This record gives sequence, structure tokens and C-alpha cells, in this order.
Amino acid sequence: MDVITRQAVGFVANFTVHYWSEILYPFSHSATADLDGYNHTFELARERESIHPLERCLIHPPTSGITGHNSILVKVVEPVRTGDRHNAQVVTIRTEYVPTELTHAIPTDSYFVAKIYDPLYFDHEQDDVDAFLSTDQEYSREAAAYRKLSFMQGTIIPKFYGTFTLELPVANKGISRSVRLIILEAIPGKPMTQLVPMDYSQVERQGIIKALIEAESLLYTNDVWHRDIHPRNVLVSGNVGENCSRRVIIVDFGKAWVGRAHPLLAPEAAKKYLPGIPISPVLCWSKAWWPYLQVSFAEWIDWDWEPWLEHHFGSTSAPITKDMEEIWRP
Ligand SMILES: Nc1ncnc2c1ncn2[C@@H]1O[C@H](COP(=O)(O)OP(=O)(O)OP(=O)(O)O)[C@@H](O)[C@H]1O
Ligand SMILES: [Mg+2]
Repeated sequence: MDVITRQAVGFVANFTVHYWSEILYPFSHSATADLDGYNHTFELARERESIHPLERCLIHPPTSGITGHNSILVKVVEPVRTGDRHNAQVVTIRTEYVPTELTHAIPTDSYFVAKIYDPLYFDHEQDDVDAFLSTDQEYSREAAAYRKLSFMQGTIIPKFYGTFTLELPVANKGISRSVRLIILEAIPGKPMTQLVPMDYSQVERQGIIKALIEAESLLYTNDVWHRDIHPRNVLVSGNVGENCSRRVIIVDFGKAWVGRAHPLLAPEAAKKYLPGIPISPVLCWSKAWWPYLQVSFAEWIDWDWEPWLEHHFGSTSAPITKDMEEIWRP
């Protein structure tokens, strides 16, 4: 039994504070890897075919970072999204004990979501992404994005309670392995993939999609490029027909880049993407970008897209300049 799977309910663990500052885009251990964890090498393919994933986890521990002195004691109370072939295991936890040094940061006797980046559950059959590199990258990127967006935590994104490390015992070996995680506010909503679009009136669906565009645009204005806007990463709170103030919450910054350009682009070249300047959704959400973006939301949208977009966002605080047209007009 591994502790993060469904049997984990009731599992009590220490989460120790962990700092990741040196590992923002870790890929230096391989000259062949890229920023999205793609790393197709003969050695890795051979290892994947011949060595059990658990053994591989011991061979490839997470990038070290710095482990702090303080730990909190938590109990896993419910799986949220767990199991094989996921980059991360998501569970609801309850804080059982928080040392006084951390009570300002995270309350005790409260419920949260822990997102645990355990490469053991990664899809070890697919052969082009390096499970270990990818989980390292997702952990550090997600933490970086939440920190960058600190002022909007608790609005269109969950509150972020920090980065931690956990020691998981390795069965029959008398040793443990380190696994990194983050703690987030538990959002009382469902991902759009678990909702039935046609249960909602067109007006309600338009409200949800408009809130999503506003939220995504706000992230982008603040120089976080989410890069994985998809119904499974958009939580909707409130029931059908309910008018809820905090309707749409974006999660999953595992692929996000802080900045608008490729992180390795020279700062001079990156300026072209106008960091900090709002870019009109009329450009970024144009139908011409389908099938790259909106197509995954197609079941939600049964109205004439471009006039609707123009009506709501045509005169936003983001006027369209010639430079913007060149970069963002598809
Ligand atoms: N803070 C939260 N509150 C409630 N539910 C959440 C929260 N964060 C994530 N979830 C749920 O867990 C699911 C998985 O989370 P997340 O998308 O962050 O993980 P992932 O492994 O990176 O996902 P993906 O499969 O998109 O790569 C989400 O689709 C959502 O349903
Ligand atoms: Mg996701």
C-alpha cells in the first residue's frame, strides 16, 4: 500500500516546510530535456522498461531545495483526485497540529487540499516525458505562480499555504523517500469536466465563460501564463441557477510560466510580449485560436462567439495596438 492512494484516508503524516528557490526550472541534470519535461533518451527508455517505478523513484529523488525545521501534522480525510497516470495526487487534509512558528501561516484544525507531486503515479508507460523532471518542474512552477499572484489568492485562484516535503516509507526496505507538495485552500466547487453544460441556461453558461475569460486575462495581465486552461482546471462553485459571487476559480499552475514568453528567452526579446500590459481578450480569445483553446469548452458555448466577445470585451481597459495585433491576432 502506498499512502497517497485511496487507502490513504486516515493516514497521518508530517509535512515539513520546504523551500524550492533554486529549482524554478530544473532541467540542468540533462542536456536533452526541455522545459515541459520532454526528455527522450535511450538510457531513460531502457530504465523505464527494466526497472520498477518505485525503484526508479529511489534512483531519482526530487531536486533537493532546502528543507526547513518546522513540520505540521496532518490527516488525509478524503481523496479529491488520486490514482495512476497523474502528475500529482490531490487529497483533502485536516491540520491536526501546527507549531506556533507556523500558526500565522496555516491554521490548525482546518481543512485544505494537498497537491502531492509523487512521480510514482506518473504514467510510466509513455516514453517521451521524464516523470521525475516533470514532477519537479510542476512543483516549482506552481509554487512560483501562486507566489507571483499572491494578491489574488482567495479570489479567482485558491489561497496558497506553502511548499512542503513529506517522507513516505518504502515497503520492506526500512527507508523512506521524499515527496514534495503544496497546500491550497479547498475550493467548494466542481471542475467543469464534472458538470453537464446543458443543465445550465445559456445566460448562466455565458456568465461562467465570461468569468473565466476575465480570470485568465487577469492572470496574464499579471504576467502569469497559465498554459493549461482546460475545463478540468476550472472549478465552478455554486449550484445550477444559483448566483454565486465567487463563481470561477482557476487551478493547476503546474505548466504555468511566470512571464509571457519562454523563460529562457533573452529579457530584451521578451519585452516584445509587453509584460504587465493588459492584452484584450478580443485578441487572446479570438475564435481563430480554436481548436487550441476554446474547443475544449465547445459544449458550453452555443452562441455566436465573436460578436459576443466583442460586445463584452471590445471596449475593455485593454485597447488594442498595432504591436498587439501583430503578436496576438492569429
Ligand atoms: N484547491 C482545490 N480545491 C478543490 N479541488 C481541487 C483543488 N485543486 C485541485 N482540485 C481538483 O483536483 C483536480 C486535479 O488537480 P490539478 O489539476 O491541480 O492536478 P494535476 O495533476 O496537475 O492535473 P492534470 O490532470 O490537469 O494534469 C482538479 O481538476 C480539481 O478537480
Ligand atoms: Mg489539472
